Amino acid sequence: MKVPLLDFSRQDAALTGDLRAAFERVLASGQFIMGPEVEALERECASYLGGGVEAIGLSSGTDAILLALMALGIGPGDEVICPAYTFFATAGCVSRTGATPVFVDVLPGCFTIDPSQVAARITPKTKAIIPVHLFGQSADLEATLEIANRHRIPVIEDAAQAIGTEFEGRAVGTLGLMGCYSFFPTKNLGALGDGGLLVTPDRALGKRLRALRNHGMHVKYHHESVGGNFRLDALQAAFLRAKLPRLDAAHEARRANAALYDKLFAESALPFASLLLPRLCRGSHIYNQYVIRLPAEGNGRSRRDALRQHLADQGVTTEIYYPIPLHLQECFAPLGYRPGSLPVSEALAQETLALPIFPELRPEEIAFVVREIATFLKP
Ligand SMILES: Cc1ncc(COP(=O)(O)O)c(C=O)c1O
Repeated sequence: MKVPLLDFSRQDAALTGDLRAAFERVLASGQFIMGPEVEALERECASYLGGGVEAIGLSSGTDAILLALMALGIGPGDEVICPAYTFFATAGCVSRTGATPVFVDVLPGCFTIDPSQVAARITPKTKAIIPVHLFGQSADLEATLEIANRHRIPVIEDAAQAIGTEFEGRAVGTLGLMGCYSFFPTKNLGALGDGGLLVTPDRALGKRLRALRNHGMHVKYHHESVGGNFRLDALQAAFLRAKLPRLDAAHEARRANAALYDKLFAESALPFASLLLPRLCRGSHIYNQYVIRLPAEGNGRSRRDALRQHLADQGVTTEIYYPIPLHLQECFAPLGYRPGSLPVSEALAQETLALPIFPELRPEEIAFVVREIATFLKP
């Protein structure tokens, strides 16, 4: 059996038809960048996220983070706190403004930023905090926002992997000053190319973000500030509009897949310490990824890589998110972090493995993956 990590060819025929219709609509309109499709997507996303926010369509999730930092005027001499265990863009954008990313560790069960470490790293130079809702699970926003509010530091939520995830009944990304989403094709709401979204409940800030998205212009060729080209294509907006009404059903299918993995792993009666399953923390989970963890054994080494090879040999594709924590990336070496400085992130980089979880995955495929993992791990 071959079990892919993701298989777009299994999307239902009705969606394919709607995507074709979206393409035809944009082709006929002759408006390929911004315009009514982008404006409609922004309204529909704002409404999906519970209303009360300005939603700004952008060229990517990376650009959403960069634009959020630019709007706050963050630059050289400033510090921005973010987790070490996340996708590169979270911290890469901080560096691109000239500011310094200050890496903190994550919680071992939830994989999201450890609020106590955030509190410990705040200095007079701290200009923003970026919690990441990693793999589709909400970070602990209550504690993070409490610390941020106490110090009057803005929170930029990296919700790139978490559109539709909730914390205390509210959509993540809408609780901080700004929230960033990615429409990269592998996300739960994926475009057929790059795309992103930035939201804020602050109307005045929203207006400024719209100008910054387009070279700092409100009025054509009048540049109030230096922005960039962070615009979203009409075609991607039209594709996303076809997918948005199906998003909750896709989340449900992923949750059902996760529940089946959980159940079958429980039934396989593996020794508890050999395999840790994704744990629901505070807030909900949309399972952009279903990430298991193989803790290091007596010799100090995890069998993660060997398990990955075993699964590959059986036709199961998996992925490692992320093999090197950000504080140990070559490009951040000048910041002076040493191995051992953020032990949870370093352990997760060695021990986690993402299994196939996409909505159209079949129960027999999940059963096969669990069986193969059990075969590999059984003493
Ligand atoms: C946590 C996180 N932040 C930021 C991004 C950047 O989004 P994009 O790929 O749309 O630029 C991603 C996407 O992979 C992500 O997973």
